[in-house]
Amino acid sequence: MLVPIRVLVNGIGTIGKRVAHAVSLQPDMVLVGVSSPRPSLGVLSSLSRGGVLEGVPFYVRGASPSLFEERGVRVGGVLEDLLGSGRVDVVVDAAPGGEGLRNRDELYSRYGVRAVFQGGEPAAVAELTFSPFFNYGDAFGRRYVRVPSCNTTGILRVVSALSSLGELREVFVVIARRAADPADRKGARLNALSLDGGVPSHHASDVRTVLPWLNVFTVAVKVPTTLAHLHVARVRLGGRLSRGDVIEALESHRRIVVAGGEFEATPDLLEFFRDRRLRGDMYEVAVLEDSVHVDGEYATLSYVVHQEAVVIPENIDAVRAMFLGGDPEAGMEATDSSLGVTRGRLAPRRALVAARQS
Ligand SMILES: NC(=O)c1ccc[n+]([C@@H]2O[C@H](COP(=O)([O-])OP(=O)(O)OC[C@H]3O[C@@H](n4cnc5c(N)ncnc54)[C@H](OP(=O)(O)O)[C@@H]3O)[C@@H](O)[C@H]2O)c1
Repeated sequence: MLVPIRVLVNGIGTIGKRVAHAVSLQPDMVLVGVSSPRPSLGVLSSLSRGGVLEGVPFYVRGASPSLFEERGVRVGGVLEDLLGSGRVDVVVDAAPGGEGLRNRDELYSRYGVRAVFQGGEPAAVAELTFSPFFNYGDAFGRRYVRVPSCNTTGILRVVSALSSLGELREVFVVIARRAADPADRKGARLNALSLDGGVPSHHASDVRTVLPWLNVFTVAVKVPTTLAHLHVARVRLGGRLSRGDVIEALESHRRIVVAGGEFEATPDLLEFFRDRRLRGDMYEVAVLEDSVHVDGEYATLSYVVHQEAVVIPENIDAVRAMFLGGDPEAGMEATDSSLGVTRGRLAPRRALVAARQS
């Protein structure tokens, strides 16, 4: 048995609390602790009694331990002391965009601890922007690796699936981007649809941090929803395509499900996963089957990306790839089996009802 990789998660918000829980489910990793600046409701709900991270040691930075202890959180000590003790192999940093870069300079480089960063950080925060489908092997031995944003992760998975059908010539994606996460107080937008950033949106250059050669163009629109992002992608591949082949390539790809039948909109998918998973986390990219249209060399499709959950498998892969390297398929399989990530066709609700009645 290999010695487990010792992981600390810094920043217990939407992404951090999910990564921490996912780390705790890995047989080859141990969650040494978590850290966050304040006893926010998100921190307390996951770490106090009955929470999914109950009992996990919490490490404070620049705050009094009593602030956390008196609210039922088990304090393990001071973050800097822990990082200096040599008891952490890697930090998964899930602080808000820009804070990770600061943490790298103030903490991780100072204490010689390796780190995984999130997509809100500039690509320059790390030596590699990681996608297990394209550069798993390149992460081995790296000091700093970055997992790209939820939208970029979704695009990369779909592009990876379609690349099995021919040479990728052109990728155009319109992103309807959720305006806020369900747990956010910020982001109220009732009546305004607006572009998110410029044209192209930053997602195209983010995709190119993994695939520098890809002809990709993206536009993003912020929409007043919290559930998920919806992408409409038009991909041109060398050679004529059939709709059946496109659907088969998507269905057979890891971490993609094809949702047919009564799955037509984001709430349909999120509700399905709420009935099955902790927090309703949908790790998979869900392609809406009826949206798949093929015209010569072009495939057009629409898919749903659950922003809170989609990057969690890739974060776990990143840690494993940095420390163990090895076969990408085996690494991803270890992640997917521990989290219950699926692929293939999502059973329509009608079939589920029929199954329950029989
Ligand atoms: N949410 C998404 O949809 C999503 C999807 C993919 C990737 N990402 C990326 O993931 C990262 C985290 O996003 P998030 O949505 O999880 O943010 P979030 O919900 O705001 O959580 C961030 C957490 O980090 C804490 N924090 C603040 N400053 C910190 C610091 N200097 N060091 C450590 N922790 C700090 C925050 O504490 P306080 O609340 O007390 O300030 C909060 O608990 C960002 O890079 C983001 O772009 C987000």
